[in-house]
Amino acid sequence: MENAFLNSLVVGAVLLGCAVFSALAGDPDALFDFIVPPGVMPANVSANNFTFRATKADFVAGKLIVQKISLAELPTLDGAGVSMATLMFPPSVADPVHFHQRASELLQVTSGSLFVSFIDSLGRRFDQKLFAGDAFLFPKGMLHYQINLDPKKPAHAVAVFGSSNPGIVLLGPTLFGSGLNVEVLHQSFNISKETIEKLVAANTPHPL
Ligand SMILES: *[C@@H]1O[C@H](CO)[C@@H](O)[C@H](O)[C@H]1NC(C)=O
Ligand SMILES: *[C@@H]1O[C@H](CO)[C@@H](O)[C@H](O)[C@H]1NC(C)=O
Ligand SMILES: *[C@@H]1O[C@H](CO)[C@@H](O)[C@H](O)[C@H]1NC(C)=O
Repeated sequence: MENAFLNSLVVGAVLLGCAVFSALAGDPDALFDFIVPPGVMPANVSANNFTFRATKADFVAGKLIVQKISLAELPTLDGAGVSMATLMFPPSVADPVHFHQRASELLQVTSGSLFVSFIDSLGRRFDQKLFAGDAFLFPKGMLHYQINLDPKKPAHAVAVFGSSNPGIVLLGPTLFGSGLNVEVLHQSFNISKETIEKLVAANTPHPL
C-alpha cells in the first residue's frame, strides 16, 4: 500500500518534471545582457558584432536560395533564442522535405505564392496555399516543405525560428545519403533493393 503510494508520488513527480521541462523547452536564456562572441574582448564588443551584412548569395539559375542568419552567421545570436532566414524560390522550385529539430518556424510569403505542408506524428498532413503577406507555422520537429507552384514567377519568403540554432534534418540525404544498410532500408520502406540503390545514388551526404 505504502509502496504503491510512494510509486505514484514518484510517477507524479516525474510527470510534473516532464511537463515543466517541455514548458521550458527552447534555448536557455542567457545569464548576461548578451554573450560576447568568441575571439572578442568584452571591452571591444561593438555594433558590428550585432550586425549581419548582406552578402551576395551564390546565384544558380533554377535553384532555391536560402540566406540564413543564425548562430553560425551571427555569433551574438548565442542565447538570444531567435534566428531567421530569407528564401527565394525560382518558378516551380521546392524547399525539399526537412524538419528543424530545435525550433518552430513561422514563415511569411513576401512576394509571389507558395504551397506549404507539414505532417504531424499521427501522419496528418496540413496543406496550405499562401500569398504575399500570409504566414504559416511549422511546429518544432515536424516534417515540412514549401514549393512555388507558379511556373513563371519567383516567390520570396522570410522565416523566423524560436532558436538561434534551429538545425535542419534533410530527409533525402539523411535516409539515403548516409550509408545506411541497404537491407534495413529495404525492410523499412518495403521497396526493392534496386530502387533503394537508385535513391542512394541520387542523394549526396547531408551538407554540413
Ligand atoms: C581591443 O581594443 C583595443 C583598443 O581599441 C585594441 O588595442 C585591441 O587590439 C583589441 N583587442 C582585440 C582582441 O580585438
Ligand atoms: C566583432 O566586431 C569587430 C569590429 O568591431 C570585428 O573585428 C570582429 O570580427 C567581430 N567579431 C565577431 C565574432 O563578430
Ligand atoms: C510490401 O509490398 C508488397 C507488394 O510489393 C505488399 O504485398 C506487402 O503487403 C507490403 N508489406 C507491407 C508491410 O506493407
